[in-house]
Amino acid sequence: MSVAARWERRVQLGAHPLAYPLVRGIGRIAPVVRVPRVGVVVSDAVLAREVLTDTEGFTKTGPGSPADLWTPVVGPSVLLNMEGADHTRLRRTLSGLFTPRFVDRLCMRVAAEPMAALRTRLAAGRCVDLVPVVRDLAGAVICELVGLRTDRAGFTRAFEATTAVTSMVRLGRSRLTPAQVARGRAELSVLTEPAAEAFAHGDPESVPGRMRELGLSEREALGAVAAFVLTGTETLVSYLPRLVALTHDTGWLPRLVDEPERIDDVVSEALRFTVPSPVMLRSVAAERTLATVRVRSGDRVVIATISAAKGLGAFDPDRPHPPAVQRLWFGAGPHFCLGMPLASAEIRTVLDTLLDAGPVVVVDREVARRVLIPAYRRLVVRRV
Ligand code: HEM
Repeated sequence: MSVAARWERRVQLGAHPLAYPLVRGIGRIAPVVRVPRVGVVVSDAVLAREVLTDTEGFTKTGPGSPADLWTPVVGPSVLLNMEGADHTRLRRTLSGLFTPRFVDRLCMRVAAEPMAALRTRLAAGRCVDLVPVVRDLAGAVICELVGLRTDRAGFTRAFEATTAVTSMVRLGRSRLTPAQVARGRAELSVLTEPAAEAFAHGDPESVPGRMRELGLSEREALGAVAAFVLTGTETLVSYLPRLVALTHDTGWLPRLVDEPERIDDVVSEALRFTVPSPVMLRSVAAERTLATVRVRSGDRVVIATISAAKGLGAFDPDRPHPPAVQRLWFGAGPHFCLGMPLASAEIRTVLDTLLDAGPVVVVDREVARRVLIPAYRRLVVRRV
């Protein structure tokens, strides 16, 4: 096993010492396997896409779906727990939100300060832990999304409020206790209260204000804001340090300084290899046959995106992705990641800053233990 693959395996095992080998092992048995108390595990890219795009057969709102877990905390209209006409209408209205121009301006505004600090510290030859840098950036993006003009302490608080809610999710947990729901709601109000204010104020430069301009009601706008912060924070804090580690371990990081035209291929292949959102859940709405397995209404389907994507093989930005695998790490069908343009802009901002600083190397790292989204706890880099 290559150094890069070994580190990625450590990251996965740090987060899920039992579930990771179990899920990957199931994927090696057959593309679809019914596992008692887990659900029907789908490990093949073509079949995963089939489930995600068959909206009559599979839903995000039935028993065992994420809606069971989220709805008591976030309310019924946050995209990721909606289906059908209401979901389609909200998605259509939101499609004008993350235009390339808006995303670039947002990213430039938000990232200016944390990236300037990163540049200065690297230029001075200092060691920099990238995890808090990316956390600050993610916190600043959250504040921007909820329309909160604040400072670094505010970014940290916003990040903490988000992770206080997301950390309640466990693979084996299908419902939250009333105490957890109350705590989740209290934490989320740290973000939704300023969002409601920004919506009322209607400044089109703020995201809630722009949503008002697009014709969303306050309830819809706050639901969308909650969806953004819950789905778009830890995925990035997981991915960016892993991207840097992976490109360091495979020799691509110094190569990208001279070959910036390869950045998109490398970013995309690193997403395939790391899969920051490693599984997706669905509930069966109508009887179907997946490969040889018959599934019935109420069955829980666990799409092991991690197996479907990693099945392609070792990290290799020179190998094109076959159609079934392309962008599967961002989902497929009606729930495809709405924040992909923003995620891509944030990724480019950090990577460009590191590449501009000249080649950097990873000098120290530690994986995070027992977290939901596999990640590094610390990834220290320094300019060569
Ligand atoms: C590398 C970073 C990211 C990854 C890998 C990722 C991955 C995903 C995946 C796999 C889904 C589909 C889940 C499913 O169908 O069950 C999804 C949905 C979603 N993502 Fe992302 N995401 C990322 C970043 C972001 C960001 C930055 C935002 C916004 C700020 C965002 C907003 C959303 C929203 C709102 C949905 C729900 C869409 C819906 O249900 O209609 N994501 N994401």
